[in-house]
Amino acid sequence: MKLAIVLGTRPEILKLLPVIRACQRRDIEFTLIHTGQHYSEGLDEVFFETLDLPRPDHHLSVGSSTHGEQTGEMLIELASLFEAEAFDVVVVQGDTNTVLAGALAASKLDTELAHVEAGLRSYDREMPEETNRRLTDHVSEYLFAPTEDTRVNLREEGIPDERIFVTGNTVVDTVLNNRQLAADRSTVLDETGIGDHPFVLLTAHRAENVDDRDRFADILDGVSRFAAREGLTVLYPIHPRARKQLEAFDLTLPAEIQLLDPLGYLEFLALEDAASLVVTDSGGVQEEACILGTPCVTVRDSTERPETVDNGANALAGTDPDSIVREAEAMSRSTGEWENPFGDGNAGERIVSTLVDAVAESPDKHRPVQEVRTDD
Ligand code: UD1
Ligand code: UDP
Repeated sequence: MKLAIVLGTRPEILKLLPVIRACQRRDIEFTLIHTGQHYSEGLDEVFFETLDLPRPDHHLSVGSSTHGEQTGEMLIELASLFEAEAFDVVVVQGDTNTVLAGALAASKLDTELAHVEAGLRSYDREMPEETNRRLTDHVSEYLFAPTEDTRVNLREEGIPDERIFVTGNTVVDTVLNNRQLAADRSTVLDETGIGDHPFVLLTAHRAENVDDRDRFADILDGVSRFAAREGLTVLYPIHPRARKQLEAFDLTLPAEIQLLDPLGYLEFLALEDAASLVVTDSGGVQEEACILGTPCVTVRDSTERPETVDNGANALAGTDPDSIVREAEAMSRSTGEWENPFGDGNAGERIVSTLVDAVAESPDKHRPVQEVRTDD
């Protein structure tokens, strides 16, 4: 099987790690392609270094620009690479611009596409992630849905059953494989000075929040008001996008909030595990808090992870400060006892095993059609 794994951002690195490990365990060769959508040390290199990931075989160094330019540049580069290498299957994960570019490039060449974390829906078409994940699902041959609910979402959109595989979410594999390591090795609690004190862990980086001055200010206001009432510190490892916007909007940081640079995975996991409460707009962080038993408040109007709300692990607060305070108070009284809806931590193995079987069953199908050039 000629397999390519495409990634470009922090969450893709962390959620494709179990697929990479499953390939390594089975001695399956793969080509690792990094688009370079994320490039800052703390969003990229730190994960390769500390998690001992193989270096990318191809690095496209696309970097930041408008969504159109970024996606277009990745599409051009990926299409030419896919054509030259004639992969049987290309694997993408999640809902970023990297994923959409990988999906479009594969579909133009008739290379089969495998989408890890298929079927999530926020039903908020304003979010770029919703467009990316929907389009990707509809050009995928293998849709690795994390839960039964996500399988239902795909069925409702007319995707044939035989393309859908419920595997659990690879985030569980990554959390379970690193939780103890994080507790043993991470010195982040001492380094931040938080020690044994209770604290709130905040992450906010989504465009719809931090690119809007009022919404960003409301999140900081709500979380700091809750923290002040409870006598808690808020630790906020800040994504570069959010830091840039905080400075551009000239927002005053409330005294309860302590900014940190983006953290390595073990450090961040140790904080998520030790926090009294997580407040976030991240997809992956909602899942991880639920897996770790840390109550979560999501500062968005919708979530594509409704399983976490249904089982009592997460509350949707929007960005109204009063609502954030109310939901934070309610969630911080939670016992932390709920079922993990995202699987048993063997998603990476299931995904690789499905792909190996599929390629073995129909090898002829896996001869990519070369693109016919129309310019000569
Ligand atoms: C992207 C994803 C988002 C995901 C997030 C994970 C899309 C549409 N969005 O958002 O779904 O939750 O990654 O973290 O794909 N920047 C840096 N260094 C970097 C990367 C970005 O400083 O390594 C700054 C730049 O100012 C850049 C901005 O962050 O313009 C936004 O980067 P971009 O890749 O467009 O989106 P993210 O906000 O990272
Ligand atoms: N994460 C990390 N360091 C940080 C913040 C987050 O390692 O400082 C990890 C977190 O554990 C999760 C992933 O990054 O696995 C989530 O990525 P992000 O919030 O950037 O993207 P999203 O999941 O919203 O797409």
